[in-house]
Amino acid sequence: MTDPRARTDAIEHASRDELSALQLQQLQWSLRHAYENVPHFRSAFQAAGVHPDDMKQLGDLAKFPFTVKTDLRDNYPFGMFAVPREQVVRIHASSGTTGKPTVVGYTQGDIDNWADLMARSIRAAGGRPGDIVHVAYGYGLFTGGLGAHYGAERLGCSVVPMSGGQTEKQVQLIHEFGARVIMVTPSYMLAIADEMERMGLDPKASPIEVGIFGAEPWTESMRTEIETRVGMQAVDIFGLSEIMGPGVAIECLETKDGLHIWEDHFYPEIIDPETGEVLPDGAFGELVITTMTKEALPMVRYRTRDLTRLLPGTARSHRRIEKITGRSDDMLIIRGVNLFPTQIEELLLQDERLSPHYQLQVDRPGNLDQLTVRVEPKPEIAGDRAACEAAGSRLAGRIKTMCGLSAAIDMQPVGGVARSMGKAQRIVDNRPRG
Ligand code: DLL
Repeated sequence: MTDPRARTDAIEHASRDELSALQLQQLQWSLRHAYENVPHFRSAFQAAGVHPDDMKQLGDLAKFPFTVKTDLRDNYPFGMFAVPREQVVRIHASSGTTGKPTVVGYTQGDIDNWADLMARSIRAAGGRPGDIVHVAYGYGLFTGGLGAHYGAERLGCSVVPMSGGQTEKQVQLIHEFGARVIMVTPSYMLAIADEMERMGLDPKASPIEVGIFGAEPWTESMRTEIETRVGMQAVDIFGLSEIMGPGVAIECLETKDGLHIWEDHFYPEIIDPETGEVLPDGAFGELVITTMTKEALPMVRYRTRDLTRLLPGTARSHRRIEKITGRSDDMLIIRGVNLFPTQIEELLLQDERLSPHYQLQVDRPGNLDQLTVRVEPKPEIAGDRAACEAAGSRLAGRIKTMCGLSAAIDMQPVGGVARSMGKAQRIVDNRPRG
């Protein structure tokens, strides 16, 4: 039998000591690189009274200041770059909800590292050289499409750069080209599975064996739903533009027990989001990442806003982050009750009469917040009004019991909940700001 480790790089199984030694050396380089070449970092370090020379052991990183999204916006467009703009071979940007986009840049070396890390990630997820890889993450300023594309090419796959949208064509090409691997947001995978059924094709009969899903939170129940419906392995991939893009962390096919963060390139910490204090491994808090090899855009203690915890390595020696079920800025506070959209997702997936498409709307008609959960019945019961009403009441009851909130259920016709071709928009918050 082939040893699966023969298909991995030695660094994926490096010992803690080896990783720590490498991390200290790389962090010293990265902090100096940031300090010497980015005015923002120089002044932030000075204001905090630290210098790259103070980085003598890994614990010293906690002395350095955090970086937040607004630091990138304040230095729009290229002020955070640590190399002359001419050495930046690629620019991506994320639109965000308001105002200026967040701009990120890559040198040729960064692009190479990204492709290597994505190739490593796709392989860990079960992709193999020679596979047909269907990329339905959006191409363009979003890092998903091109990040997946370069990684799959680097692994030696045949890449279909489909991008998002044209769902019927997606289905056609998946079947006719024989995609073994699909890379797409989990919410858009559901839309593709719906389209297969609409076209009279059994999703289970599709050639897809592995799905590499990320860019948005999704639950274990959603994994089970997709795996059973499409007859495939669903693996979680994590990343963010400010740090690199997809491929910062990945689940391994053999364990599917959380995402290994590639610790030879990214140094993770978990902090208490209120106090900023570093928490021990195993404690739940906000993920903070420092890059160790990025040339164009080094990031020092970047606050991701993603909530998770750090766990020891399993299939790889690199530590894992627990599946991310929410961001601190996606947490709704409704009449004093905290709610993540994924909590509603869990409940929806427990009812076989309801489809997993959903959106949460919050209004404030008077002084009180009002939550509306927009859902759809499964096509099988769509014609049965009593069954739809019963499913809606049951859901409202479950939300009340499990989340402590009264919600109005807006039962839409099949296809009525807005579909996204990329990241799903789960929240429509109509409450006045401020
Ligand atoms: O979403 C990069 C990416 C593309 C990751 C394709 C995976 C696959 P951004 O648009 O900058 O980059 O958004 C980053 O998306 O901070 C998380 O809040 C969220 N996110 C990304 N992956 C996951 C995941 C890309 N697997 C933000 N689970 C991050 C939960 C995720 N949330």
